[in-house]
Amino acid sequence: MEQFAYKNGHLVCENVAASKIADKVGTPTYVYSRDALVSRLRDLKKAFAPVKPLICYSIKACSNQNIIKLMAREGSGFDVVSGGELYRALQAGAKPGKIVFAGVGKTDKEIRDAIKTGILMFNVESEAELARISAVACRMKKVADIAFRINPDVDPKTHRYMSTGKKETKFGIDLARAEQVVDSLSDHPGVALRGIHMHIGSQITDLKPHAKALRKIVRLVEKCKSMGHDIKYINMGGGFGITYKNEPSRTAKDFARQIVPIVRKTGCRLLMEPGRFIVGNSAILLTKVVYTKKAGDGRSFVICDAAMNDLIRPTLYEAYHHIWPVDSSNSKPEILADIVGPICETGDFFGKERQIPVVDKDDLLAIFSAGAYGMTMSSNYNSRPRPCEVLVSGSTFQVIRRRETYADLIAKEKGRLPTYKSYR
Ligand code: LLP
Repeated sequence: MEQFAYKNGHLVCENVAASKIADKVGTPTYVYSRDALVSRLRDLKKAFAPVKPLICYSIKACSNQNIIKLMAREGSGFDVVSGGELYRALQAGAKPGKIVFAGVGKTDKEIRDAIKTGILMFNVESEAELARISAVACRMKKVADIAFRINPDVDPKTHRYMSTGKKETKFGIDLARAEQVVDSLSDHPGVALRGIHMHIGSQITDLKPHAKALRKIVRLVEKCKSMGHDIKYINMGGGFGITYKNEPSRTAKDFARQIVPIVRKTGCRLLMEPGRFIVGNSAILLTKVVYTKKAGDGRSFVICDAAMNDLIRPTLYEAYHHIWPVDSSNSKPEILADIVGPICETGDFFGKERQIPVVDKDDLLAIFSAGAYGMTMSSNYNSRPRPCEVLVSGSTFQVIRRRETYADLIAKEKGRLPTYKSYR
């Protein structure tokens, strides 16, 4: 996170003081660095250049329109998993020909809309879905390009909720059945096989699992080619891990060194769907201390104005996010404290037993590495308006999502809403 640094004890994002942002737009606020976002994307492009990568930024990691726009301007494609994400991508000016659509439960409407839009391809997760896409395409007198998402049964060595490439998960087509499914393509005239896809999990810093899974995928690609299918893409999904605490800090080159040689010999282009790698360390969540207190057992709490509804990762995955005061210019004694939010749940915490300098009411804290799956997994729980989002570029910063208001909270519950009568 070199775009976030302490200068004379004050946290800055690029050339903007974090405290300035809090002064102007309040807290809690997600603060993104434009330079970090763009550099991470460019690093991937460069490192994987020998396999002509099509990078499809995974919108689910952070789906702000302005960030999608920025990625699109940099030439990125997009990985979407719902009609809503497809809408977001198109509204932000994404090129339909660079959009891939994954997910185990695509509905008829989502399939129709995506075909109408002219997306690059669907990542097909089951035989039932294959039949459905083909039928919808036939009705529209179209042929939809697809990739099969294969479940290679490889352990990605990550949190169990983020592991998607093992046999027992709901994702993809079992590798052992893959050839049979490829054989059945002659029964489905509405689709053309153009790729093989995998996505084995997220936050993977071990270099071996991707390589292991890709070797299995490459064997299948060769088979498909020998069966006459024009396979243009190997889609390796996302999953590249970042440093939150003490995980090895992997660069795009580290991943490429393992992956490029495997893909290169197939002659296919590499498609990838990175989310966290691009945006994870490109943002912080800025929050203010509301109170400090001590529990009956003597432990200290720092109560912030951000909560689990704004960043759910710590409680959902017991994920670690580094937390530090925005102003650490005066050396203060350190204490051990739980950093928590105001929500009525014991699970509402950002960090437990953290060693931090003594803080007081109105002090600002930065929660680091918050760009991926932060804002996109936020909610209005406890009727808390969602935070504001800000994009820093050099010495300027721009609000890219205004803070929600109380009126926003009830907007969809007012006005003329339908009432239905039901007769048994
Ligand atoms: N492609 C597919 C098909 C995916 O399911 C995902 C993420 C990605 C790409 C992007 O993966 P990434 O490069 O970001 O690892 N909420 C969790 C992460 C769940 C990831 C879901 N799928 C978290 O907060 O860590």
